[in-house]
Formats: sequence, C-alpha cells, structure tokens
Amino acid sequence: MSATGGAKAIVPPDIAAAKGGQPLVCLTAYTTPVARLVDPHCDIVLVGDSVGMVLHGLPSTLGVTLDMMIMHGKAVRRGMEQALMVVDLPFGSYEESPEQAFRSAARVMAETGCAAVKLEGGESMAATIRFLVARGVPVMAHVGLTPQAVNAFGGYRVQGKGADGDRVLRDALATAEAGAFSVVLEKVPEQLARRITEEVSIPTIGIGASPACDGQILVVDDMLGMFTSFRPKFVKRYAELAENAEAAVAAYAEDVRTRRFPAPEHVFGDVPGPKGEDKG
Ligand code: KIV
Repeated sequence: MSATGGAKAIVPPDIAAAKGGQPLVCLTAYTTPVARLVDPHCDIVLVGDSVGMVLHGLPSTLGVTLDMMIMHGKAVRRGMEQALMVVDLPFGSYEESPEQAFRSAARVMAETGCAAVKLEGGESMAATIRFLVARGVPVMAHVGLTPQAVNAFGGYRVQGKGADGDRVLRDALATAEAGAFSVVLEKVPEQLARRITEEVSIPTIGIGASPACDGQILVVDDMLGMFTSFRPKFVKRYAELAENAEAAVAAYAEDVRTRRFPAPEHVFGDVPGPKGEDKG
C-alpha cells in the first residue's frame, strides 16, 4: 500500500497530505512502456527534463524544449493509471516572468493531461510559484542542486554544505510558503535534508539527499542500470539492463553471422497452417 494509498488516481493534495508518513515513491518515465511499468508502484511519476540526457544524448538539460517535454508527456500519459503525473518545465520556458511560466504550464497541462508541473528554484521562483498556484497549476518545486543552473554552480556539486545550508533552507521554505505541494531536494548533505524536512510544511522528495526526506526519486534509467559508465554515489542499481542488453545484441549478431537465426520455428511456410499462425 502506497503512502497515498487508495485505488483512485493520486492528486497533488494526496501528496501534500503524506508529509511525515510512509515514504513517497517517485521515479521518472519518458515513454509509454516505462510509464506502464512504474505507474503501479509509484506515488509520483515525473517526466523529467533529464530526458534530454537520458534519451536524446544531450550534454545537460539546457537543450530540452517545451515541445520535447510535451511529446514525452503525451507518451507517458498513455501508460498512466494511478500515480500522479508531473512534467518538468524546461530551461527558458518559465524564468522570464510568472506570465511566461503560466503560458508554458497551461500548454503542458492541456496537451499532456498531467496534473502538475515541476520547476527549479527557491526564493527567486517564489512569486512565480504563487502566481501559478493561484491560477490552478499545482507546482512541485526543486531546490539544492538545480541542474538547469549547472553553469552557475560550476558543475553538479553537492549544495548547502556548512553555512550555505541556510540558503537552501530559505529556498525550500519559500517554495512551501508560495504554495508548492512538494519540493525535490537534490544533492544536499543528510543533516541539511533532515533540517529542511523538519522545518518545511510540504513533503521533501530526495535525490542524493539521504533517507531523512519524506520520499525518494531516481531517474528510472539510472536505477535500472541502463548506463555502464554513469554510476553516481546516490543511485542504487536494481538491475543491470545495459549489460544484459549488450550481451543479447552480441548473441543476436553471432547467431545471424553463423546462420543459427532465423531457426525453423521463426520461418513461414507456403502450405496453409493452423488458423492465426501468420499473425505473430
Ligand atoms: O529531470 C529529472 O529527472 C529530475 C529529477 C528530480 C530526477 O528533475
């Protein structure tokens, strides 16, 4: 039974109400088959702008566009039944003004059918969050390491060490104050994650932010081991799909070259066979 636990589709107030209870389970998805796989196990499925790096081979999330998020959002929606679907607003689609953010969020919600959007930023985005929430857009916030600001941070570094923790705490408090229903805490020390989780009124969803958070999120391809070289400390790998897939592709290549594939059972004859045989 999930933290938000019933048979009906999960809505943002269910997530907000799960503060301090059983940890919230969150994963990313970018396609229909993966959405079908993760939806029954998750409270939140995020169509993250990590899609740019994970599926499109981009060097960062900065090149992801609103159209890309909408295309992947539509695909994910077709695989969803119960978890809350959240779609990231990409870099450049919301920072200019609350009005720009509303136009982007409205497009994303209308065209994908998602129930909420996520945006990066704390105190600097509080007015925008307030503007969106007042107009019926549920907002998940994202503070700590915010990957769209990677150039300003000078890399994907842990945020909020020592005295800098107060800045990240202020960011998290500002998002809750502005009406966000939850906040992602990315790459912050455990002590800070605990302090923020105790002090903010909304659930904290951690990624590289320790078990002190109210929930956890991972990029689904990371936890399934879809990459052989990318092994961040904060990711636990629950499968090694890339290694298995590589071995399968090598076996196929060997079978084709040695004519072991196709075998007789994969071949159609010209004598009428049992009904339906030609369909597979
Ligand atoms: O884009 C993303 O996948 C995220 C995470 C919090 C995993 O923002």
